[in-house]
Amino acid sequence: MKNIFYLILAIAFLTCGTTMAANVQKLPQPDVEQSTVSLMKLLNTRQSARAYDSSKQIDKQTLSEILWAAFGVNQYGKRTIATARNEQNLKVFVLRQDGIWLYNAKENQLEKISDENAIPYTAEKQPFVSDAPLHLIYTSSDSHWGHDHAGSAYQNVYLYTTAKGLSTVIRGLINFDALHKALKLNDDEFVIAHQPIGYAK
Ligand SMILES: Cc1cc2nc3c(=O)[nH]c(=O)nc-3n(C[C@H](O)[C@H](O)[C@H](O)COP(=O)(O)O)c2cc1C
Repeated sequence: MKNIFYLILAIAFLTCGTTMAANVQKLPQPDVEQSTVSLMKLLNTRQSARAYDSSKQIDKQTLSEILWAAFGVNQYGKRTIATARNEQNLKVFVLRQDGIWLYNAKENQLEKISDENAIPYTAEKQPFVSDAPLHLIYTSSDSHWGHDHAGSAYQNVYLYTTAKGLSTVIRGLINFDALHKALKLNDDEFVIAHQPIGYAK
């Protein structure tokens, strides 16, 4: 009887571990010491792009650094962007073919929200968007400052992607209602903008 109990316990533990592993993806540490093009050159060459090469994926290191640029934790334990009253309540979601993920900056990991491919909800009005391999969605519950926080984050991503030879565009032409539902947001939370990222076609 005791043995059966321990067997059930072991199976439950293993099953739970596998599920957790599938629902959490650890990100590599961002290389915050890397040298890059000067800030002035990045500002001088930043621009929006509307043609992406669907055959070129973004590697995990680059994904980690994009998210860190957007809203990561920096050397002071603060964020890479300023937030009103230091509320830090911007959320950055990653949409991929394999589902919807929430960036947990403190744990440096992605946490799965759903298996749904929500990319089509971003591409209804501009189909080129589907070609980008990576999609960020910014959300907030701060109706006063949420958009400012997203603006800081997406500008950081513009600068990082410009430095890395990647392309991006910040977008509002998306299906807000469908995304709100797919991202399982609370009633007081709202979708702000979408930022596809990829290599130029
Ligand atoms: C709040 C906001 C929403 C935008 N929405 C869209 C959009 O839905 N689709 C799009 O193609 N570009 C969108 N853009 C990008 C602008 O069209 C672009 O920034 C502008 O044409 C200037 O081009 P540049 O970014 O290359 O300087 C948006 C930009 C901002 C700031």
